[in-house]
Amino acid sequence: MSQTVNGDAFENLLREERKFPPTPEFAAAANVRGDIYAKAAEDRVGFWAEQARSILTWSKDFDEALDWSDAPFAKWFVGGEVNAAYNALDRHVEAGHGNRVAIYFEGEPGDTETITYADLTERVKRAANAFESLGIRKGDRVAVYLPMIPEAVVTMLACARIGAVHSVVFGGFSADALRSRIDDAEAKLVVTADGTYRRGKPSSLKPAVDDALAAPGHTVEHVVVVKRNGQDVAWTEGRDVHWADLMEASSPEHTAVGHDSEHPLFILYTSGTTGKPKGILHTTAGYLTQTAFTHSAVFDLKPETDVYWCTADIGWVTGHSYVTYGPLVNGATQVMYEGTPDTPHQGRWWELVQKYKVSILYTAPTAIRTMMKWGREIPDKYDLSSLRVLGSVGEPINPEAWMWYREVIGHGKAPIVDTWWQTETGAIMIAPLPGVTATKPGSAQVPLPGIAVDVVDENGAPVPNGHGGFLVVREPWPSMLRTIWGDPERYRDTYWSRFEGMYFAGDGAKKDDDGDIWLLGRVDDVMNVSGHRLSTTEIESALVSHEWVAEAAVVGAVDETTGQAVVAFVILRGEVEIAEGEDPSAVLRAHVGKEIGPIAKPKHVLVVPELPKTRSGKIMRRLLKDVAEGRDPGDATTLADPGVMQQIAQDLRK
Ligand code: WT7
Repeated sequence: MSQTVNGDAFENLLREERKFPPTPEFAAAANVRGDIYAKAAEDRVGFWAEQARSILTWSKDFDEALDWSDAPFAKWFVGGEVNAAYNALDRHVEAGHGNRVAIYFEGEPGDTETITYADLTERVKRAANAFESLGIRKGDRVAVYLPMIPEAVVTMLACARIGAVHSVVFGGFSADALRSRIDDAEAKLVVTADGTYRRGKPSSLKPAVDDALAAPGHTVEHVVVVKRNGQDVAWTEGRDVHWADLMEASSPEHTAVGHDSEHPLFILYTSGTTGKPKGILHTTAGYLTQTAFTHSAVFDLKPETDVYWCTADIGWVTGHSYVTYGPLVNGATQVMYEGTPDTPHQGRWWELVQKYKVSILYTAPTAIRTMMKWGREIPDKYDLSSLRVLGSVGEPINPEAWMWYREVIGHGKAPIVDTWWQTETGAIMIAPLPGVTATKPGSAQVPLPGIAVDVVDENGAPVPNGHGGFLVVREPWPSMLRTIWGDPERYRDTYWSRFEGMYFAGDGAKKDDDGDIWLLGRVDDVMNVSGHRLSTTEIESALVSHEWVAEAAVVGAVDETTGQAVVAFVILRGEVEIAEGEDPSAVLRAHVGKEIGPIAKPKHVLVVPELPKTRSGKIMRRLLKDVAEGRDPGDATTLADPGVMQQIAQDLRK
């Protein structure tokens, strides 16, 4: 634990006294009422069993709601069988909702597609047959490297249908990052696209797949390629297959069979405190239960009338839980947008809200802060009156951004739900209920019904109201990760060993005088840049893999727009010869982009003569963070060479 909970920031937050109770009309019509908390507290496991039975259509009912006898390895809804794709698709069609729109797709260049539940079901059936025809069987892993296009959802659900395990890799990750994920999961199939559009220009994906698979020794047999932007791509005969050809040749008939409740649904890699990303494993029934329950309770979804839009990319867990699974299991109508918010103009999002009459919007604080910077004149030009619930996720939302979201986007009438959760938790854990909770700007506030979240001190004792500590979960929950793919020991060590019998989230938090929870950011070496999780160690490894670099230290420095920004300090090797006009910072930034992906590029790379180290040789990142954030570095007396910090601060001023 390299950082401590930031007390000063919290003291400011505590002065926040505004509260916004739900209107009586909203409360009266809300999906869940306040009595749900007591009901869930009375019999937590029974509460989830009831949710599981009422939300999902089971192929075979379960015998036991929770088996925690082999803790921390949980089994939920033991003995049950359920098919995720059937629950997201077929059953809505069978119930007579085949003509309901599932997805309003809007491509960045402005092309659109309206896909009903009947259409989407047929596409998924074809894709299920298609993947089977390529030899994919239950339990096989499929890597998905796609942009935000309907085929991404189709691919995920087709995998789920046949029991194949998808591993979605964000399209912004590099070929190297893709390859390491393919290797770790031993994927047999990769589904990708020629490319996508970014800021009005075609951008490519397939070349990264070709690069990733160039070196032998991988397990991939086929690459399915969606034609999206029509650019020329290299083709490996026998390995590569066109999506359109494959779908056309496949039957639109496919019967879904139930899979065991604990059958693996997907792997999603996320950054941890070491260099190697962790393959977070989620299984079927518990994950579906909690994503669908929370999607209905926290966003108050009314499937017949709401138009929901979650702006997250499918490459992150938010895209899994709140684009693909939660909304579709609930029979929602949603908007899917391929591109960036500023193309072709900075009003694109609000134009989409107006066009599709979006009523529930779920986005990230970094986006809200960016829009604030662009100015309220932009959203003010559009009719946003359809909006009735506004969600936030990914990082703490500062009260100022929260208020702007409420006033400018929600016109003071749409409740804001700040939702705390993680790739590991699978679904929302802490959030207000919009028809119940009086919301507070900047706080995620209350654990959801059936969720045992707490804030504890160093020794695992609960802190009293008004105090801070570490966020933990005391009891297993349905959508919890089951393990780290291929590394059960790392699962136990990372999450269940810091505090006896509790899940350690890695976040600092405080309880205010009402007992409401305020999230204060990570307490480990994980950074949060624009809601994207990055590991300091991973970026340091990327930097030292460059021949110029002898040593590197990376910190996350507070940034007004992105929450945190990556700042790197590097020592160059004595013998390197850098040609005139070559800028080592620019070269190293590009190198990190190539090794990990553009999202990981440091905002600044500072070449320094020495790094601050303790006498035992440990780099003191805390001091580097101080200077990166423009403060005088704190206590440097434990440094082996106390003069180092003065030198760095001096260089920085230059
Ligand atoms: C980390 C998890 C959950 C989907 C997106 C990120 C931070 C997430 C909030 C929030 C304060 C938040 C935490 C957490 N975080 N939501 N509402 N308030 N912090 O998933 O990439 O697994 O990152 O994001 O630090 O540990 P992720």
